[in-house]
Amino acid sequence: MFFRSKTPAIESYASLGVDLHSHLIPGIDDGAKTLEESLVLIRRMVDLGFKRIYSTPHVMADHYPNTREGILRGMEGVLRGLNGIPIEFGVAAEYFLDEQFEELLQKEELLTLPGKRVLVEMAGVAPAHNLLDTLFRMRTKGYKPLLAHPERYPYYRRDFKALERLKDFGCEFQVNLLSLAGHYGSTIQEQGFKLIKHGMVEFLATDMHSEQHADKLKEALGDKRIQKVLEKKFSNGSL
Ligand SMILES: [Fe+2]
Repeated sequence: MFFRSKTPAIESYASLGVDLHSHLIPGIDDGAKTLEESLVLIRRMVDLGFKRIYSTPHVMADHYPNTREGILRGMEGVLRGLNGIPIEFGVAAEYFLDEQFEELLQKEELLTLPGKRVLVEMAGVAPAHNLLDTLFRMRTKGYKPLLAHPERYPYYRRDFKALERLKDFGCEFQVNLLSLAGHYGSTIQEQGFKLIKHGMVEFLATDMHSEQHADKLKEALGDKRIQKVLEKKFSNGSL
């Protein structure tokens, strides 16, 4: 005789279905370096249970001066390489909130996730200059700001209320699954779980850059706390 556990073990991220943050366009940021590597990582995403992914190259004046055209060109290359890999593949961008972002916001159409969501990130040392003004300008242009990995910013760990203010301001939050897996250390891990516990997180995403990340994400599926989180409802599937 054997006993079956009440709920089956979670073996993939299929309950999320859609990933909205990764670095899989080859050779334009700190993610995949070649098309071959991109395709390896995309296959790993399929194995992890994702059906659709939006890859989001960094757009950061100082380090990754990517353009809308360059990113779309990169996407075309990946689409041509997919060759039957069962995944829907699209792009947006991870915009660093610097002066260039202000210019882009004035001058051109940003690369967005569905719902005109714009994925943004900031520096580790302090919140972006004029952050609330920038978020306001984004909203007036019809964009919906989505803050990447709020759990990773040290100043928001010291000032949780400031994160609550961003939320009140209409900013959505995306927590990295890699944070919950402890990939960036236990402080960031706990902040990720805290944000989820407070109901402040709309989206979970991989932020995948490498095979090492894929390994970590696979391993994390065995973690009880992550399994519990994956039983919750997030907005990934609504994209
Ligand atoms: Fe990222």
